[in-house]
Amino acid sequence: MSEILSELPPIEEVYDPNSEAYSIDPTPQCLELAKRGRLVWYAPWQAWIMTRMLDIMACWKAEYLSSDFYDWEFAPPRPPKDQWSNFERAFIGHSLVADHDHHRLVRRVTAPAFSRHVVDAIQRRIEPDVQKLFDELGEPDSFDYLEKIAQEIPFISITRTIGVPEKYWPDIKQVILTFTETWNPTISDERRESARQDSNRAIEILKDVIAERRLAPEQDDFLSVLLKVEEENEGFEEWDIITLVLALIGAGSDTTLVAQQWSVYALLKNRDQIGAAMESADSFSNAFSEIMRWSTNSKMGFARYAPQDMQILDQAVSKGQMVLMMPHLKDHDPGYYDDPETFDAKRVFNPDVLFGYGPRFCIGAALAKRQLYLTISELFKRFPNIELAEEPERDTGDHNAVTFKRLMLNTNI
Ligand code: HEM
Repeated sequence: MSEILSELPPIEEVYDPNSEAYSIDPTPQCLELAKRGRLVWYAPWQAWIMTRMLDIMACWKAEYLSSDFYDWEFAPPRPPKDQWSNFERAFIGHSLVADHDHHRLVRRVTAPAFSRHVVDAIQRRIEPDVQKLFDELGEPDSFDYLEKIAQEIPFISITRTIGVPEKYWPDIKQVILTFTETWNPTISDERRESARQDSNRAIEILKDVIAERRLAPEQDDFLSVLLKVEEENEGFEEWDIITLVLALIGAGSDTTLVAQQWSVYALLKNRDQIGAAMESADSFSNAFSEIMRWSTNSKMGFARYAPQDMQILDQAVSKGQMVLMMPHLKDHDPGYYDDPETFDAKRVFNPDVLFGYGPRFCIGAALAKRQLYLTISELFKRFPNIELAEEPERDTGDHNAVTFKRLMLNTNI
């Protein structure tokens, strides 16, 4: 094995997810990376990359690595408690960014807020917003799906879901979408600091929203459920609610924006699959995994940090080093999937790991799929003959995913 590896060119020469070539066709680069072993050192990011699905699932499940950004060797030092701003108060020790035990408590007590029943109720809340967006769009000959629809949906649907009243939307929108940048290791210190300041402002607004909601608690949304959870569970407090809401808006916005554009693109590139994919919410749920597999838009995967010097998959990993799990490397691997270049809306995924696995499985999975189904069904209902107006130019600037600069569609009405 090591002889074969020494014949291969260094990974830095053949793998660059920010390159134009990757944005057009990531498959050759992903396969090159996977070829180099189970845990590969990637110097440009000063990170280890975990390449194999079984290893990634074991890591997800056993959580032997840390999810705490402050455990990263290049993270800014954790400030002392008397110097904490609201951001550190929310970020350190609470909710999803807490230690494993508290994280599990948060997931357990908040599970009712993310049940299928609640998602059904939320669909009813979001539907009028989706209709309104399409009404405002009217019947143009062509339009940019990104600008007119995709960019609007995630924020609207998540703030509605949580129950942030519309009067707060303009202010909070400006500052909340950057929350996940506060712990993103691939961006500059300046950008992270600016995201931290945004988050401080967002927290002030959220505290007002929560105070207002305490006066009128029962409103059939996440915030109402979370306030009830707080009342009934010792150890779950307002800072947990704040961190959770920030995480929901942060984690739910970028992801669904990326998913919106690739869903429309993938279905229009595989028109014969639209019927099977859009038959029902359940069939879309499976088709969505195929959309994301077929498009392989992910760049960096999921970050973890070594809590101490340790041996991982036969490599010596030092305390604080970053380990990136990259499940998408398998997406076009013929050793993993039959006929990987074919888009098959009914492909069977077992296991389906698009939304993660184990204790940190995506909280918003059901919501994300329902929101996408709702919007894309409406698109095809209003414009049954819609098609791509051009091959969209890729945007290589996003640090997490390959996206489009715009997505021009011809309505053909
Ligand atoms: C297409 C859409 C989405 C995809 C593909 C996706 C995928 C994922 C994955 C793979 C994880 C695990 C990350 C890890 O292990 O580090 C995750 C976690 C998470 N997701 Fe999503 N997600 C999506 C949409 C959403 C939405 C809409 C929300 C919120 C409403 C959301 C909220 C979260 C949160 C809060 C976590 C952290 C869970 C925890 O640490 O316990 N996601 N997501």
